[in-house]
Amino acid sequence: MQNHEITKVLVSEDEIKQIVRRLGEEITAHYGQLERELMVVGLLRGSFIFMADLVRQINTPLVVDFMTLSSYGDGTVSSGDVKVVMDLDSSIEDRDVLLVEDIVDTGRTFSKVIRMMGNRNPRSLKVCTFLNKPDARIADVRIDFCGVDIPNEFAVGYGLDYAQGYRNLPYVGVLKAD
Ligand code: IMP
Ligand code: MG
Repeated sequence: MQNHEITKVLVSEDEIKQIVRRLGEEITAHYGQLERELMVVGLLRGSFIFMADLVRQINTPLVVDFMTLSSYGDGTVSSGDVKVVMDLDSSIEDRDVLLVEDIVDTGRTFSKVIRMMGNRNPRSLKVCTFLNKPDARIADVRIDFCGVDIPNEFAVGYGLDYAQGYRNLPYVGVLKAD
């Protein structure tokens, strides 16, 4: 279902490029030379486009893995109930792990994932999000690498969906309310 209008552009293609480049520089500078490759973990499906762009801006040897979570429903309000639909392929024990998310909204999903990943004893655990909605925060989340703060509106595009649609927009926009 991709039949709603986009009322405004929140993050343009050019801005996305600049943001991703800056994040890549910050992450590269932070990790420097690691003993083993950095493990970049993307949360599907929302992070797939951002992650693909981001890893190409990180100038440090790395591996990628993915995890699918579901926060129930297809609406515009996240339920806060999170379950693992597809787990990582590899162990993160003793690894330097960078978690990559499309957006931190209430923070419920990320805070649960961070706790879960922390229990698996990584060597280090940092988090990176492309979008951040500080005004929607309910659960406290420490974000180490943040793309851009946006207002408390429903964003689509660049991987983010509404009812699974709009992920292919090359920019981030706001949907017209019904
Ligand atoms: P949370 O509220 O921080 O737990 O956000 C959970 C998930 O809801 C995110 O990973 C997104 O998949 C989705 N989400 C939150 N806000 C938006 C939005 O504005 N557009 C699209 N998806 C969103
Ligand atoms: Mg998501």
